[in-house]
Amino acid sequence: MLDQSQTPILSALQASSQRPHAAFYAPGHKRGQGASSRLRELLGTALAADLPELPELDNLFAPEGVILEAQELAAEAFRAEQTYFLANGSTCGIEAAILAACGSGDKIIVPRNAHRSVIAGLVLSGAMPVFVTPEYSSDLGLVLGVKAEAIAATLNHHPDTRAVLLVSPTYHGICSDVGAIASLAHHHNIPLLIDEAHGPHFAFHPDLPTPALALGADLVVQSTHKVLGALSQAAMLHTRGDRIDRDRLQAALQLTQSTSPNSLLLASLDAARHQMATEGKALLSNTLTLAQHMRLELGTIPGLRVIDKPAVTAFSSASELDLTRLTVDVSGLGLTGLEADEILHEELGVTVELPELRHLTLIISLGNTQEDGQRCIAGFRALAQSCADQPSTVAACAQSNVLESSEASFTLPQVSPREAFFAPTEIVGAETAVGRISADTISAYPPGIPTIVAGEVIDEGAIAHLIAIKQQGGYVTGGNAPEAFRVLA
Ligand SMILES: Cc1ncc(COP(=O)(O)O)c(C=O)c1O
Repeated sequence: MLDQSQTPILSALQASSQRPHAAFYAPGHKRGQGASSRLRELLGTALAADLPELPELDNLFAPEGVILEAQELAAEAFRAEQTYFLANGSTCGIEAAILAACGSGDKIIVPRNAHRSVIAGLVLSGAMPVFVTPEYSSDLGLVLGVKAEAIAATLNHHPDTRAVLLVSPTYHGICSDVGAIASLAHHHNIPLLIDEAHGPHFAFHPDLPTPALALGADLVVQSTHKVLGALSQAAMLHTRGDRIDRDRLQAALQLTQSTSPNSLLLASLDAARHQMATEGKALLSNTLTLAQHMRLELGTIPGLRVIDKPAVTAFSSASELDLTRLTVDVSGLGLTGLEADEILHEELGVTVELPELRHLTLIISLGNTQEDGQRCIAGFRALAQSCADQPSTVAACAQSNVLESSEASFTLPQVSPREAFFAPTEIVGAETAVGRISADTISAYPPGIPTIVAGEVIDEGAIAHLIAIKQQGGYVTGGNAPEAFRVLA
């Protein structure tokens, strides 16, 4: 057992920032002395701690001092064998994970609702995605998890697959059956990589979903900054077992991160781990109590539907729901989530994390107070009051019956996302796009899953789907689709 009351990086940074000395190193503002007065006004003494990799502050890429100690403390607290601090978000960790597990042309099973950092990892590595489609509930209007059966079928069809990647939890806090999927991957002797960007708190309270590492995942990436107390961009990558080559992972992390990692970010990871290891359970109990109160109160407001655990876990692809993630369906108010978000943000002093066509999703974390909760409930009440008796304008879209089940398609893109990225391209209209290879990844909301991934052939069905979603009030991202498409020349 290590002494979790220690904060090696934070303490060293504090001492270093207070040591009187003449600084002839980067950053050029020299502990704030040369910073603009406006920046000094905003950041105050934090600037004195914006220090480079001085000897006493260790080196992120070859840690042997305080960074090594802090990473070991984090590994113990998060129940990993080895932890790497990331100064470039989960994004750089996910890219590095794919680079560590796959080479050019290697197959990797990827859910279609993967974050764009996964596509970036595919471009960097040249790996070939074998997509599985997560389950979608048109009743809830939400993408759920990936069924273990879909992974099993895909592995049987593509036995030469080199890794499986999952997003669990999703942005909405929905977890797949990671344990079952880990067993399937390990049966094929390949690693399971988990994008757990939204689940860094799971290890610290028994009423939260089980962390993926405890369920057998080989590598997980967590955005410590999204849910715990770290600064934006500060994240962690945890590994267990020997299915991931750690030397290659370390080398990959050097490809995807800056050679000047911000000390404040690293110290904030150290502090977030310390806070969780020493008082995480109590803090998260308060958070869960607040979330439960908000859930119950919002659920009584006419026109709102709070997405609850039984409704989600009734689907076989969804094994757990993080109850600190609150998703509210506002379509019963006659508003889209985007309209509701604007009113809440502009007029009612409540700002949510993720507005979508039907829903608003809130991150409730240890930073939220009872007052925040009350303000939120009052805000939603006022919103509902102002909308009373208005007919729903989003009903048609809410019923959009786009993806009913979790599917394994077995088909590979025509060319890898890497090849699509580097190929010469041209813009064509919808009428001539059919049969061409897309250079862009194009997603329709709902359901927020790419309809076409870069490297895939555009077919009539995909274009019709994008048009239908837009006609129903949804929206499309990725180039100017469905009016025009960027295709390989
Ligand atoms: C599911 C998922 N994975 C990865 C990321 C990337 O995380 P970061 O912003 O820490 O780079 C995000 C960001 O929103 C995300 O939602």
